[in-house]
Amino acid sequence: MTSAAQRARDLREVIARHSEAYFVRDEPILPDADYDALVRELRELERDHPELVDAHSNRVGAPASLVFSPVHHAEAMLSLDNVFDVDELRTWSDRLTKGLAAVTPPVFSVEPKIDGLALSITYVKGVLVQAATRGDGRVGEDVTENVRTIANVPRRLVDVRGTVDVRGEVFLAKADFERLNEAQRAAGAKPFANPRNAAAGSLRQKDPAVSASRPLSFLAYQVVDRDATLRLSTHGESLARLATWGFLVAPETTSVTGVEEMIARTTWFEDHRHDFTYDIDGTVVKLDDLASRAVLGSTSRAPRWAIARKFPPEERTTRLVSIEVSIGRTGRATPYAVLESVVVAGSRVSMATLHNEDQVREKDVRPGDLVVVRKAGDVIPEVVGAVPVEGEARGAPWRFPPTCPECGGALRRLDDQSDTYCVNPACPAQQLQKIAHFASRGALDIEGLGEQRVSQFLSEGLIHDVADLFTLEVSSLAALEGFGELSAAGLVAQIARAKTAPLSRVLVGLGIRHVGPVAARELAQRFGTYDALAQAPLEELEAVEGVGPVIAQSVFEYARDDDARERMRRMAEVGVELREPLDSTSIEATLEGRAVVVTGTVEGYSRDGAAAAIVARGGTSPGSVSAKTYCVVVGEAPGNAKVTKARGAGVPMISAAAFEELLETGTWSATLE
Ligand code: IVH
Repeated sequence: MTSAAQRARDLREVIARHSEAYFVRDEPILPDADYDALVRELRELERDHPELVDAHSNRVGAPASLVFSPVHHAEAMLSLDNVFDVDELRTWSDRLTKGLAAVTPPVFSVEPKIDGLALSITYVKGVLVQAATRGDGRVGEDVTENVRTIANVPRRLVDVRGTVDVRGEVFLAKADFERLNEAQRAAGAKPFANPRNAAAGSLRQKDPAVSASRPLSFLAYQVVDRDATLRLSTHGESLARLATWGFLVAPETTSVTGVEEMIARTTWFEDHRHDFTYDIDGTVVKLDDLASRAVLGSTSRAPRWAIARKFPPEERTTRLVSIEVSIGRTGRATPYAVLESVVVAGSRVSMATLHNEDQVREKDVRPGDLVVVRKAGDVIPEVVGAVPVEGEARGAPWRFPPTCPECGGALRRLDDQSDTYCVNPACPAQQLQKIAHFASRGALDIEGLGEQRVSQFLSEGLIHDVADLFTLEVSSLAALEGFGELSAAGLVAQIARAKTAPLSRVLVGLGIRHVGPVAARELAQRFGTYDALAQAPLEELEAVEGVGPVIAQSVFEYARDDDARERMRRMAEVGVELREPLDSTSIEATLEGRAVVVTGTVEGYSRDGAAAAIVARGGTSPGSVSAKTYCVVVGEAPGNAKVTKARGAGVPMISAAAFEELLETGTWSATLE
């Protein structure tokens, strides 16, 4: 056998095993992206070696079931071809335009690709008579009784004389999925892996009463007008008709003209993928004109007039190399996975958090395992679980180390907590994290003082505590590796500048337990100075808006801790102001609810200063551009990515010179470009 034939055989075997797990047991083993990659590889192999195509090649989908009666679809329920980037989408569109030999640019419908399962509901003279799953595309399963229990599926359609199939997706909204899993756990049953599997499991119930208890929804996206009684000429008309009949139709679906508009709209969906109340895993682009669709036709698997642009997968598999423990500024010891690096949701991931000891045990992941890694949106990557590999021996279960990897001190876990702590207050890792946090952007924002420098100063014995930063001298820094006179003087100046930072930032920087930026601001505004805050009785702290008993107690104790008192005394001595400037209420909320992204430097403002000015006017200043961004302020040496993104999403860009105008009026008189 040739190696290609061998590979095709192996792929078919693996795909069959995973299809069974996915479609029959509703318990997928592999993330969809990995499954898709296997199918794609097989298709490519078959394309290059047509002699390898056998009778079973096209059968990717559910095999016939033993529980439900088979239903032959009058018109096959085809699948969709996938593309993964803009270039492929353009190629598809070009081919389609050529196929039509039309002069005018095509009109497309761009809609969300719902991650549920396809369903075809047959209505005869407007009465619901049958509902079937997709199955292998030709033969599906009869799930009529279960579908009758779905609240938003109409039982009757007005003004229909012939036979009509309404096709769409059965799904569970994210919130409904969470509720269902809570109920599953409460009943001691296994929770579902994701909304799609929960929907599939709920629809394919032997007992319709069980289906009825599951909050399934149906979204319609296609009409098969079997007897040509509806006189539809475009997809847009089909969707309008579906809505008239009472079906849920995705309101975000838009009709666009030409390839560029079409691409921009698919990118919009990608940017907003997390804003939907249900899971979407891509967008579907369809040619609007039904007569043109007939001209293009279909392959045995998918129509030529539609395509799915899949989003970068948020789950991938990779090898877990080892499990290490990192020590945070509070001494918390967090286990994390060291991974063979893999691209997830568009960025390269080689480490992922495992949260705590219980999570590692629950997930039962062991060094050497093949694991699923997930990264959704801005969330930090995490390990979901292990993928069993047949015939592969596993390593021993991982155990939490008894001692701190940084200082060798004991690691302790309190009985009622899931977190483990290094309890040595002198642990160098804790010191490092504490000081780095104090200097970080969210706190005192001391430019040029990152983790590496802090580590260097600690090991040189120049600092032991945040208060020591203010006593650093140019001469001692200039003698260090990587420093010169100039850079040493620059850093010392930055640190000196931080002396006048508002008290609220200092409070955040001190890392007092439970005190985040919101509480810090409220406390600083209420008391004005650190002295007043430190002397406040507990009841007075509790009375501050947004400060509950837990935060109040923590602040109260901090103010009375010997080390903290010494720290604050020393800071005051070297001239740290520890004072909150009076809240000037004359600032108008000109940017209420608006997201303004700043890229590059704006004259007269520090990085954080510009953001603070926006926030003070009721706006937000996110770190990245999305279609929701109000405008982008382009300063000196702007970031390429932000500018490109803004241009692509049609977000207005204004110059740094117009920043003051923006702050004052909430708008601008001129944009760039
Ligand atoms: S149209 C012939 N539109 O994606 C056209 N499908 O990967 C067939 N899907 O089997 C489908 N959202 O289950 C279409 N807006 C949408 C969709 C959609 C999700 C599913 C459907 C289909 C699968 C193909």
